[in-house]
Amino acid sequence: MERTFILLKPDCVQRRLMGEIISRFEAKGLNFVAMKLIRVTPELAKQHYAEHVAKGWYPTLEAFITGGPVVAGVLEGLEAIAVVRNMLGATSGLKAAPGTIRGDFSSSRQMNLVHGSDGPEAAAREIALYFKPEEIIGGTPTITPWIRAADET
Ligand code: CDP
Ligand code: MG
Repeated sequence: MERTFILLKPDCVQRRLMGEIISRFEAKGLNFVAMKLIRVTPELAKQHYAEHVAKGWYPTLEAFITGGPVVAGVLEGLEAIAVVRNMLGATSGLKAAPGTIRGDFSSSRQMNLVHGSDGPEAAAREIALYFKPEEIIGGTPTITPWIRAADET
């Protein structure tokens, strides 16, 4: 079982697409184990996007990500990190394949609706950046036997 961090970005919230995106993750069989509506501060943005802070386009990314409420969440499931990244599609909505979240809803390289951790280290770092341990609600949903076979772990 693996956990990954997602952020419904300000464009997703402003465009009233939160429910649509959350529904996709639920329908896929992933479990939400944490979720909250927050504002990203410039300080948090610089920590979250540390690998991009020096890039020429970072100031516009910071303005975007701090420009409205976001929904932070933690999803749990088998291979959750890769599953979520595949559901998001390529970074730019102009390049992302139809059927992916970015491919279906985004026409921008920046306003691409959802962030997802890109590997185990990023997932651990980002979950800890946005959530206290006690904000993560574990447990096995009763529907689990209808989501995957018992020997799939
Ligand atoms: O989100 P992802 O890991 O697919 O892409 P990234 O290359 O790690 O970039 C992080 C975020 O920065 C993207 O999701 C875009 O919102 C934004 N970005 C941007 O504003 N301009 C670019 N040229 C590339 C990315
Ligand atoms: Mg990335």
